[in-house]
Amino acid sequence: MKKLTLLASLVVIGLSGCGPKEEATTEGTTGSTGSSAATTGSSKPLVVFAQANSQDPWRQVFDRDTKAAADKLSGEMAFEMQEAKDDSATQISQIETLLVKKPAVLLVSPVTESVQAATDKAFDAGVPVILLDRSVPGDKYTAYIGGDNVEIGKAAGEYMGELLKGKGTVLMIQGTAGAIPTRDRANGFLEAVKKFPGIKVIQGDDCGYQRERGRKFMETYLAGGKAFDAVYAHNDEMAIGAMLAMEAAGTPLKPIIGIDACQKEVVQYIQEGKISATFSYPQPGPRGVELAAEIIKGTKPAEKKILLPTEKVTKENAADYLAKYPNLVD
Ligand code: FRU
Repeated sequence: MKKLTLLASLVVIGLSGCGPKEEATTEGTTGSTGSSAATTGSSKPLVVFAQANSQDPWRQVFDRDTKAAADKLSGEMAFEMQEAKDDSATQISQIETLLVKKPAVLLVSPVTESVQAATDKAFDAGVPVILLDRSVPGDKYTAYIGGDNVEIGKAAGEYMGELLKGKGTVLMIQGTAGAIPTRDRANGFLEAVKKFPGIKVIQGDDCGYQRERGRKFMETYLAGGKAFDAVYAHNDEMAIGAMLAMEAAGTPLKPIIGIDACQKEVVQYIQEGKISATFSYPQPGPRGVELAAEIIKGTKPAEKKILLPTEKVTKENAADYLAKYPNLVD
């Protein structure tokens, strides 16, 4: 991460209700996008991005697309990002450090709800806060951009009901506890399967949205010998981990549903019949950067919640999905 040299020049921008009383501009700096943030004599508002982690495939696409969007708008803003390695305390302290730079806009994809401590602080200091993918409780934010995780959970539950013909035990492998998508993906699913009285859901462990933890959880679960008929994982990484554990144990594969649809690997497993379906989790970064640029220009966001649509990927449309999205990660 390249450091921004801040020349503390404060300008007042008029954003009633959603934003800052003041912002800092940068001069002669380079953003983490690698783009030249300013040339001598010009100054640009600073947009900072606090990312939950940069490790998993979905976040790698998130970072790539967000940086590309910031590069495109590098004439209008300087951009800097920090990633918190999935640790809420680290993210809170990163946001506090970023706030010292008096950014024009703060983009945050919170690790968990507890990051609210820092987003509230930013908002109270007059910095517009745009939440990406994961939200925080309360309403101290300017806009949320992301998928509708309750709807995605419901769609997954309905499809599971179809796959199981209304009867069976589903093992639910959970994402990070305290991250709002985890709660919403669980609740949406549970809501949808209510209409199938023959379906029972076992709430599995928090596997942190990580493949390895999903794999280990399934390995241990299989060793315990308890029966189940299908798997619902809160993301594709954990779905793949669970599937690989079943394969390694020689257990016949059962219906498995994941979420994200951002990697070729999962779509290939769907084509091979090893995973039943995934639901795309749209990338909020580019829209977040564009919204930041609008806020900088003084436009108040028209909506507080910008919900992006999902797509179901199954064996039937997997090839079309790959053709439609050639930029999926390997
Ligand atoms: C990445 C990720 C995605 C998931 C999202 C939920 O860290 O786990 O796989 O869809 O976060 O916030």
